[in-house]
Amino acid sequence: PHQFIELLPFANHLLPLPSLQAVGSDGVRISMESALTARDRVGVQDFVLLENHTSEAAFIENLRKRFKENLIYTYIGSVLVSVNPYKDLEIYTKNHMERYRGVNFYEVSPHVYAVSDNSYRSMRTEHKDQCILISGESGAGKTEASKKILQYYAVTCPASDQVETVKDRLLQSNPVLEAFGNAKTLRNDNSSRFGKYMDIQFDFKGAPVGGHILNYLLEKSRVVHQNHGERNFHIFYQLIEGGEEDLLRRLGLERNPQQYQYLVKVGDTRASLYGWVWNGTRQKSCNRGNCPKVSSINDRSDWKVVRKALSVIGFSEDEVEELLNIIASVLHLGNIQYGGEDSGNAYITTDTQIKYLARLKSPLNLEQASSARDALSKAVYGRTFTWLVNKINVSLTYKNASVIGLLDIYGFEVFQHNSFEQFCINYCNEKLQQLFIELTLKSEQDEYEAEGITWEPVQYFNNKIICDLVEEKFKGIISILDEECLRPGDASDITFLEKLENTVGGHAHLTTHKLADGKTRKVMGREEFRLLHYAGEVNYNVNGFLDKNNDLLFRNLKEVMCMSDNKILTQCFDRAELKDSKRPETAATQFKTSLAKLMEILMSKEPSYVRCIKPNDAKQAGRFDDVLIRHQVKYLGLMENLRVRRAGFAYRRHYETFLQRYKSLCPETWPSWQGKLADGVSTLVKHLGYKPEEYKLGRSKIFIRFPKTLFATEDALETRKHSLGERVTYHMVLVDGCHLLSLRTVAWWRGILACRRAQRKRQAANTIRRFIKGFIYRHNERCPENEYFLDYVRYSFLMKLRRNLPKSVLDKSWPTAPTALIEASEQLRKLYMQNMVWGYCKRINPEWKHQLEQKMVASEIFKNKKDNYPQSVPKLFMGTRLNGEEINPKVLQSLGSEKMKYAVPVTKYDRKGYKARPRQLLLTSNCAVIVEEAKLKQRIDYAALKGISVSSLSDGVFVLHVPTEDKKQKGDVVLQSDHIIETLTKVAICADKANSININQGSITFTMGQGKEGIIDFTSGSELLVAKAKNGHLSVTAPRLNSR
Ligand SMILES: Nc1ncnc2c1ncn2[C@@H]1O[C@H](COP(=O)(O)OP(=O)(O)OP(=O)(O)O)[C@@H](O)[C@H]1O
Ligand SMILES: [Mg+2]
Repeated sequence: PHQFIELLPFANHLLPLPSLQAVGSDGVRISMESALTARDRVGVQDFVLLENHTSEAAFIENLRKRFKENLIYTYIGSVLVSVNPYKDLEIYTKNHMERYRGVNFYEVSPHVYAVSDNSYRSMRTEHKDQCILISGESGAGKTEASKKILQYYAVTCPASDQVETVKDRLLQSNPVLEAFGNAKTLRNDNSSRFGKYMDIQFDFKGAPVGGHILNYLLEKSRVVHQNHGERNFHIFYQLIEGGEEDLLRRLGLERNPQQYQYLVKVGDTRASLYGWVWNGTRQKSCNRGNCPKVSSINDRSDWKVVRKALSVIGFSEDEVEELLNIIASVLHLGNIQYGGEDSGNAYITTDTQIKYLARLKSPLNLEQASSARDALSKAVYGRTFTWLVNKINVSLTYKNASVIGLLDIYGFEVFQHNSFEQFCINYCNEKLQQLFIELTLKSEQDEYEAEGITWEPVQYFNNKIICDLVEEKFKGIISILDEECLRPGDASDITFLEKLENTVGGHAHLTTHKLADGKTRKVMGREEFRLLHYAGEVNYNVNGFLDKNNDLLFRNLKEVMCMSDNKILTQCFDRAELKDSKRPETAATQFKTSLAKLMEILMSKEPSYVRCIKPNDAKQAGRFDDVLIRHQVKYLGLMENLRVRRAGFAYRRHYETFLQRYKSLCPETWPSWQGKLADGVSTLVKHLGYKPEEYKLGRSKIFIRFPKTLFATEDALETRKHSLGERVTYHMVLVDGCHLLSLRTVAWWRGILACRRAQRKRQAANTIRRFIKGFIYRHNERCPENEYFLDYVRYSFLMKLRRNLPKSVLDKSWPTAPTALIEASEQLRKLYMQNMVWGYCKRINPEWKHQLEQKMVASEIFKNKKDNYPQSVPKLFMGTRLNGEEINPKVLQSLGSEKMKYAVPVTKYDRKGYKARPRQLLLTSNCAVIVEEAKLKQRIDYAALKGISVSSLSDGVFVLHVPTEDKKQKGDVVLQSDHIIETLTKVAICADKANSININQGSITFTMGQGKEGIIDFTSGSELLVAKAKNGHLSVTAPRLNSR
C-alpha cells in the first residue's frame, strides 16, 4: 500500500475509491489536513495551527490532550516536541517505520521517524550534511529518541553485505557506551553521564557505511562518589551480577556489590569533600550511592547484551579480559584503606587487595593518599572510556561520505547539591540553547528572504548573556576558575568564590550567598554561587571546583600506569605525556574548547530538532504534571519558537502541493491547471475569497498567515469530497449501478493519468530545452539562460572530483576542471593537498619524524651541490655506525658522562705523507673525537670547530678545520667516510654547524700546524683513488656518477 500511495498523492481525498479507502481508513496516513477534523479530540498535530497561539495554557492543554491519547509527538513547524510516555508504546515497529519512509513530513502524524526520514531525504536530495539535535532535561527521553532514530536508519536504509556489519556495529555501540557511560541518578535510571555526538555516514546509494563518535566530558567523579540513591556506572554492577564464576575468580572479584567501597559503603575521610551541604552547615554523610539494585534495571541480562555487543564491535576475547581487568582494578583500588603513621604518613591497611595491584606507597598524609587513590581511579576509568570510544570508532571505519549527525548530550539538571559536573553540563545546555535560537530564527528568516517575503523580527530571550558569563575570556567564570587553579599561593575553592564576587558579582545572572537578598540567602549555602540559567536557577557549591578543574594526577602514578602490562592502559597512559612538562589544560577549558568545536560542526550542517519533555519527576506513565511541564515549555523557549513561526505565517506549502490538494475547489483549476503554478494558486485563492492580508505568494510557495483560513479551506474540501461522493452514489442508484460506476471511474482515472503524463512530458521538454540553451551560452557570464547548465557542470565536476580524489600525498592526479571552474579547482586542489600533508604529518611516528628532520638538514646542505647526495637520499640514516662493543671501553670511560650521539669508522690521512690510517670518529654532545683503538687521538670541541670542507664530487674526503692559534690542536684533520652525507649531516646537527660546511670545486686548502698549509686536489675519474701526488698535494680522484 505504501508504494501505491506514493504514486498517487492525495488521491484518497479526491475520490473514495474502495481500494484507496482501505488504506486511508486504517489510520496509516492521516494527513495533517484531514486530521484537522479530529482536532478537538486529539488537539492539533502542529502547534502552529493552534488558534490561540500566544496562550501558554492552550499550548499545555494541547500537549495534555495528546498525551492522554498516547500521542506523545507534536510539531512546532519542523521542530518535534516529544513527551516521555514512561511506558512502551506500540509505535516503533517495522510497520511504523515503513509508513514514514519517503513520505512527506506533513502527510503523516508527527513522529521521530518523520524527522529521521526528513533529514535523510534532505541529505540525499539536497546533498547537504544533516544533524538532529535532541535536547531536554535529564530523563526527558533524549537517549531513547536517538536510539529510535538510529534504528530507523538501520531498518529502512538500503544495505549491502558489508554494510550489515556497519549497521550492527552502529547499533551495538549503544549498549556498550551506555554500560560504561550511563548510570542511575535521582533524575533518570539510565542517565547519560557523558555527551555524545555521532556521525552516521551514508554512501551515494544512501546505505549507512560508517560512523564516528565524539564524546564529551565523562562525569568521572561518579567512579568514586555518588549521591545517595544513585549508582556508579552500570558496568560495575553488570560485571559483578552477570560475570561468569571463572571470570570473577580471575579478576579477584566477589559476586556482591556490598564488598566494594566504590559501590556501596559509607565513605572515608574524603566524605567531607563531597558530603551534603545544606544551608551552609556541612553534614557528613555517606559518599556513595548505596543503591546496588534498581527495579528498572536488570544488570544480569544487560551484561549479556554488553558482552555480545563487544564482540560484534570486534573486541577479541583478550581485549575484553583486559578491559574488565581495568574495571575490576578500579573496584580493588577503591577498597584500599589507609592508616595514619605517627609521622603523619599514610600506609595501606588492606593487604589482601595488594596482590591485585601495584604497590602504592608514598609520603602522603591520610587525606592526600585517599585523594591520590581516587584521582587514579578516575583517571584510569576516564581514559579507558575514551579508549573505548576510539576503539568503536576504528571498528566503524570513518569514510568521507554524506553524514547525519546525532547529538545526545546530558540534559540540564538540578540537584539539591550541584557541583562542578552540573556546572559543565548546564553550561553545555546553555550553548545548545544558543545554537537553537540562532538556527531556528535564522532558518525562518532565510526562508522569508528566499521567497521574497517581508518579515518582522520577534522578541525572544537570548541566552548569549549567560554563555558569555560562563565562557568569556578573562572575565568569564571559567577564566576566573582557571586563574585560581593556576596562580601560585594559597588559592582555594573559597578564594575562587570570593573572586567571582569581586569580578562578576554585579552580573544579572549570578549571585552568591553574600550578595543575595534576604529571601534568596535563606535557600543558599555560604559556599554556593547561583546561576540564573535559561532553564532556571541553580546553586553550585564551590567545594571541589579547583580540584576537579585541575584534574591532576601524581606524576609517579602516571609513571606506574605507563609500565602496566595491560595493553589498554599502556595506550591510555602515554610515555610522551611524562616528558611533556607543559601543564595540561584545565578540565573546564578543555570542555569549553570541545564545545566550541561541536558548535562549529553543528553549524556546518542542516539541523532538525527534537525537544524532549519530561511529564513528571516520578518516572511514571500517564502522569502529566502541569507545573513541571509548564516550566520546561518555558525554558525550552517553545512558546517563543511558536511565536517566531507564527509571526510570519502559520502555514506554507509549495505551489504544486497546494494546487494539487485544493484544485477541486475552483472551476478554473479543476481538473487541471495548464498555466504557471503561481497563477493557478492565485486564481484558486481568489476564488476561495482569501483577503490580501491573509496570505502572501512567494517565489515557490504560498504563505498563509492564520490557521483559520486554512481550516476554512479544509472544511470546504471536506464538503466537496462529500458532494463528489454523493454524485457518484446518485449515479449508482439511477442507472444500473455498478457497471456504469466502474466505467465512469475508469474514464475519470484515465483523464487524471493522461493529465499527469502530459505534465511530465512538459517538464521533460523544458529540462532538455534549458540544457541546450545553457550549452549554447556556456561561455557567457552567468545569466538566466545558462544558470541551470552551469550548475549542472559544477555539480558533475564536484561529484567527479569526489570520486577521483588523490589517494596519497605523492599522487599528483587531479581531474581537469571545466573552464568556469579552473580557479576553484586550483583552490580546492591546494586545500586538499594541504589537508593531506597535514594528515600525513600528524600520523608519522617520532622515529620517522627524526629521520625526516635529518634528511631535511642533509638536503639543505648537499642538494644539487655534491655529486653523491642523490644516492644517499633513499638510504636511511643510521643512529650510529658503531655500537657499544665496537668502541674501546677505555675510550668510553675517558669520555665520562658525555653522551655519545654517533660513531663511524673513518680513514685519516696523515698531515705528513698522507698515509691512510683507520680511525673512529665519535660525536658526543660537546665535541668530535678521533680515536685509535684505546687511544683518544684528538678532541675537537664544537666551539673550536671553525668549519668543514668537502668537495662537490662523489668522494668521501672531508676536512675539519680548527683554529691555527690553538696549540693543543695539531692542525686541521683530513678524514674520509664511506657515509659522507650521513656523517657530515650528523656533525652539522651535533655541532650546529650546518652553515659552516663549505663545498669546494677543484681543491681544498688546509693548515698543517706551525703555519704550514696543505692542499687537496679533486678530479673526476673512473674510480676512487686517494694518493700523494708528485706536486706534494693530496690528490683525490672521485668516480663519475650518472646522476649529474
Ligand atoms: N519514547 C519512549 N518510550 C518509552 N519510554 C521512554 C521513551 N523515552 C524515554 N523513555 C523512558 O524514560 C527513560 C529516560 O529516558 P532517557 O534515558 O532517554 O533520558 P535522557 O533525556 O537521555 O536523560 P539524561 O540526560 O539523564 O541522559 C528511559 O529509560 C525510558 O524508560
Ligand atoms: Mg541520556
